[in-house]
Amino acid sequence: MKIAVLKERAEGETRVALTPETAKKFIALGADVAIEAGAGEAAAISDAAYTDVGATVGPAQEALKDAGIVLGVQAPDPATLGGAKEGAFVAALFDPFRERERVDAYAKAGLEALSMEFMPRITRAQSMDVLSSQSNLSGYKAVIAAADQYGRAFPMMMTAAGTVQPARVFVMGVGVAGLQAIATAKRMGAQVSATDVRSATREQIESLGAKAIFVAEGGIEGEGSGGYASEMSDEYKAAQAKLVSAHIAKQDIVITTALIPGRPAPRLISDDQIATMKPGSVIFDIAVPQGGNVEGAVADQLVTRHGVTIMGYANTPAHLAPDASALFARNLYNFLSAFWDAEEGRPVLDEEIGDAVRLTQGGQVVSARLLEAG
Ligand code: NAI
Repeated sequence: MKIAVLKERAEGETRVALTPETAKKFIALGADVAIEAGAGEAAAISDAAYTDVGATVGPAQEALKDAGIVLGVQAPDPATLGGAKEGAFVAALFDPFRERERVDAYAKAGLEALSMEFMPRITRAQSMDVLSSQSNLSGYKAVIAAADQYGRAFPMMMTAAGTVQPARVFVMGVGVAGLQAIATAKRMGAQVSATDVRSATREQIESLGAKAIFVAEGGIEGEGSGGYASEMSDEYKAAQAKLVSAHIAKQDIVITTALIPGRPAPRLISDDQIATMKPGSVIFDIAVPQGGNVEGAVADQLVTRHGVTIMGYANTPAHLAPDASALFARNLYNFLSAFWDAEEGRPVLDEEIGDAVRLTQGGQVVSARLLEAG
């Protein structure tokens, strides 16, 4: 079985879906690995690092020729995958709800699209979950970027010339990214508080030494459906807005991370609330590519409202390309190797994970989740 990896074509994408480490492991499984020249460059991986472990490096058409598996960070346009085998697996991020036309094009092209976003949230799939690995890095990077933008120090400093007060950091949405944001801000010496709609996060916030700020009633008990939050009622939203208004005026840095799969990101901070914040404060909206949690946030731009800087990246993990690529590539390896059938020399997916991630097969869109969404 030949595995092909192309250079990412999407604007601003610096990651790569294969590292020399995972290339070596795929080769050890018996696969041939071919990568387009320069594919790792933006993630600081040279072509030589791939050839050193036994991969072939060359032009895209050569890499694709007779490939049975194509790996990507962001799914390539299927029209660029000519030369791959009929029914080849393409494992990547498909953004399936928003890029439905591309999914249809994959079906038409007779390719089997495997959406890494649809990895089920079950224990055995944890090591295959790119959303988790990339969110983790996003949570870290958001704090670092906000700290850089903030004109003051994070930790309390007691100096001979007097005391510097610690920064107050408020994290909204305590999933994987939010937990890492809390941990990063704590390590940097800030006073940290956090909120979420899932009651289970209270204990997680407190175990990191941060203060939990919660709407008294109406949160989601437990982990919600599959670990994801659902849309909240209007009463809950009103109570949450009140709570946030009271808290946010005292914060220096706010990191927002709230997402609801398949829907626009929930609006957590309004322009009126930003107006209550201190000038010089910074808001980093990790959810900006999904529509943003913060009114006025624009991807890859510094927006100033009422003296407050609002920022967010179109692709936060791409700002940490070597680490993000290393984790992404390992997730893909963990996924495909778990199903590797030595006799057939290719992965044979099981029902639970295969049915969840498979978008297209035999010329049809087959994902129940996508078909339900219409
Ligand atoms: P996410 O990226 O879907 O959302 C981020 C956070 O925002 C969530 O905690 C969510 O509850 C919160 N949120 C949504 N709407 C909100 C609102 N209106 N106000 C405040 N907060 C709001 O979440 P993520 O990071 O993917 O993780 C969610 C859960 O799933 C975690 O408990 C995580 O540990 C679990 N998980 C489990 C996996 C597995 O078992 N394989 C893999 C990935 C995550």
